[in-house]
Amino acid sequence: MRYPDAAGERFTTVTVVVGAQFGDEGKGKITDYLAAHARFVVRTGGGPNAGHTIHLPQGKVVLHQLACGVLRAGVTGISGPGMVVDPAALETEILDLQQRDLLKGEVVVSERAHVLLPIHQLEDAWEEDLRNSKNPAESVGTTRRGIGPAYEDRYGRWGIRMVDLVHPADLGQRLDLLYATKSFLTNPPPRDELEAALRDVGSRLAMYVRPTEPMLWNAISEGSSIILEGAQSALLDVDFGTYPFVTSSHPTAAGALVGSGIPPSELDEVVGVAKAYATRVGAGPFPTEVGGEMGEFLLREGNERGATTGRPRRCGWLDLVLLRYVARLNGFTSLAITKADVLGGLDEIPICVGYRMESGETTTDYPPIQASEYAKVTPIYEKFPGWPPFTQRLREKIRREGTQAVPGALKRFLRYVAQETRVPVEYLSYGAERDDTLWLGRGAPTHPVTITPWTT
Ligand code: IMP
Ligand code: MG
Repeated sequence: MRYPDAAGERFTTVTVVVGAQFGDEGKGKITDYLAAHARFVVRTGGGPNAGHTIHLPQGKVVLHQLACGVLRAGVTGISGPGMVVDPAALETEILDLQQRDLLKGEVVVSERAHVLLPIHQLEDAWEEDLRNSKNPAESVGTTRRGIGPAYEDRYGRWGIRMVDLVHPADLGQRLDLLYATKSFLTNPPPRDELEAALRDVGSRLAMYVRPTEPMLWNAISEGSSIILEGAQSALLDVDFGTYPFVTSSHPTAAGALVGSGIPPSELDEVVGVAKAYATRVGAGPFPTEVGGEMGEFLLREGNERGATTGRPRRCGWLDLVLLRYVARLNGFTSLAITKADVLGGLDEIPICVGYRMESGETTTDYPPIQASEYAKVTPIYEKFPGWPPFTQRLREKIRREGTQAVPGALKRFLRYVAQETRVPVEYLSYGAERDDTLWLGRGAPTHPVTITPWTT
């Protein structure tokens, strides 16, 4: 994308957009905003567990498996190699957009993406039931879309890829092998019916399915802009998130490169997206979670229901321990702070600046690795004076006048977040509409912080 900075016009080629919390930070909205200047937008991991909500003048769109570039003319939206794709659901998603006349860009699906099968959904339920029956505290609270099992089969080397649907010569053989691994499932869909359905949907989707890395490498050579649209979030990363309460992919900046085939040396910008507060769907540590009236307030004002499952999200305050951690993990070059309007009208706004451990030690930038330890931390809060409600008048004023119209208390909050994470807050989102996004500029150069693991 192109944007002006102190040195004049700057040209950026590859930008990763990463969720900096537990998902649902508004990555779809920020990616859509950046996509106005992009040529390609690539979804690099996950599958129909994601729900990226975008409010267009024509109405609300929730994208599950398509990259949000498909909503913009002149942009190619790639469902990338790192994904696990439910082909039938993908076809429905494409048809829905076509019917609403919202499919303005081009759809491309990677041949390397793995296929998420009905069997994986059964297996997801089987796994959750198993965890639950052993100990309810082990339940992950997955979206039950089959994501985990599809990645398990990918790494088991008996997965089916999109290329196998489009060129189905080996499909029968691959399905035989896969079915042989599923003897523990009762009533899987009959193998022959599944093969026929896959051949069918494969022939209909064939026009979209291609090798995608060469397209991106060419784009880089030509200086076209690429956005890698992360799904889920860094704290749901299978290795660096709150294991085992995580998803099965790598929703980090590094994962976005693996999931697209773009080499690390081509990466220019990493935008971390965080709400001005925090939410989490599903189980797992969430030290800043709030219940009671305040929890209800955030749920209601933030409209915090899962775009995919409709589950109410757990709500809480911004957690700087986690934000500092993911900033280092992903190498954020800028932050986008979203849903600032939701907090409008509160007298004071808590921010978690550290955790006190059971041992009495504190940490400010590196969370415990074991969920059982995590459950014992006590968040340490600082309180910030709140900002006024985001009336229509205030929104219009910000659209007209830009940064100077942002309420002083909110500016102070954003400066504090930037100072504490050492990452400039470059984007502010203060409403659901496409226009309710403000570019704040690059801010001062930043320096790395020293990490102190809490165990030392
Ligand atoms: P799975 O990805 O369906 O296996 O679910 C694993 C965990 O990640 C659960 O806690 C889900 O609620 C969470 N999760 C998966 N996708 C998303 C997302 O797009 N937004 C928020 N949470 C998600
Ligand atoms: Mg979502």
